[in-house]
Amino acid sequence: MRSVYLDHAATTPVRPEVLEKMLPYFSEYFGNPSSIYKWGRETRAAIDEAREIVAAQLGCTPAEIVFTGGGSEADNLAIQGFALANQSKGKHLITTAVEHHAVIDTAKYLEKLGFTVTYLPVDEYGLVSPAQLEQALRPDTILVSVMYANNEVGTIMPIPELAQVCQKAGVAFHTDAVQAGGVLDLNVEKLGVNMLSLSAHKFYGPKGVGLLYHRKGTRLDSLIHGGGQERGHRAGTENIAGIVGLATALELANQEREETNQRVKGLRDQLILGLKDRISEVKLNGHPTQRLPNNVNVSIRYVEGESLLLNLDMQGIAASSGSACTSGSLAASHVLLAMGIPHEIAHGSLRLTLGRESTAADIQYLLEVLPPIVDKLRAMSPLFPEGEEKDV
Ligand SMILES: Cc1ncc(COP(=O)(O)O)c(C=O)c1O
Repeated sequence: MRSVYLDHAATTPVRPEVLEKMLPYFSEYFGNPSSIYKWGRETRAAIDEAREIVAAQLGCTPAEIVFTGGGSEADNLAIQGFALANQSKGKHLITTAVEHHAVIDTAKYLEKLGFTVTYLPVDEYGLVSPAQLEQALRPDTILVSVMYANNEVGTIMPIPELAQVCQKAGVAFHTDAVQAGGVLDLNVEKLGVNMLSLSAHKFYGPKGVGLLYHRKGTRLDSLIHGGGQERGHRAGTENIAGIVGLATALELANQEREETNQRVKGLRDQLILGLKDRISEVKLNGHPTQRLPNNVNVSIRYVEGESLLLNLDMQGIAASSGSACTSGSLAASHVLLAMGIPHEIAHGSLRLTLGRESTAADIQYLLEVLPPIVDKLRAMSPLFPEGEEKDV
């Protein structure tokens, strides 16, 4: 049986070139970067170099980068750290209804601490507009957080335009760019953002390491207290191998970005066409063009997402559904619901995300395997209308 990995939005494998760069920092170069002797200076130099590489990729200065323990921590530091440090200026935040839980749950936590949060609704494609954001701004708004690209449906938000609205109003703007890492332009000047989060494992780097870009002059409270590492923004002995891996992976991804995007986009479009061709009542979720080159998210009527995943897994295919299984009850995706997709259709959603190692043969295999699975599940569904393609 073939093995086909189509869940690159969840995570990606570490590239061999990245692993090779990381390995010496587990054994040969093991010194604590805070130590003044040679062992410490060696690892300090590795972190400094990684910070410079990353800064060059983002178009910022090295001092504006804080390495974190991943994307969730970067989002928490941006939102919680900024809100706590700037609360004397106001206690209102704005975000969107389709953010990753690392943002939404941090905003909810801040509500418990006395902050007010506006969750902007999105249109049918998952977009918020600059006009909508402008209307939601209040005199006490201190921070706006809007994701660069959505992790479920791949919709790309108009970040430069949204950031400009905030710039004019003197409000800080954060973007969760975790799904955009290595895929979209991350130049913070072009984007006009004050803060930006990334996570290495989404662009062929290691898990458990990420970063927050914070523009010079952005005040942040630390989430982790202790030593003075990361200029006092994040205490704890640094994850040297992880940081080196992140920088190497980001640089490689950016070097190959256009070529990879073009190839992956071709496969993605082939996949979308194939699904529409071979399965009835399939709807593409997210924006038709303003979407990540590797993202396909479809709702397949009269089937249930989790059953699709289990059946695909039995055929060696890794995919994801829009619904999350929480404590035995199936909750439909908050992203699809916010886009106005009815519950019963949101439940039948399937996310297929391609990567740099995906091939036309992978797509072909999926297109052969999926239609009979859908037919089988529909035949068992009490909702599937009588007389319609019930024979399996
Ligand atoms: C948009 C987005 N933000 C944040 C995260 C969290 O990143 P991490 O897994 O590095 O904590 C993810 C991961 O799925 C994501 O897709």
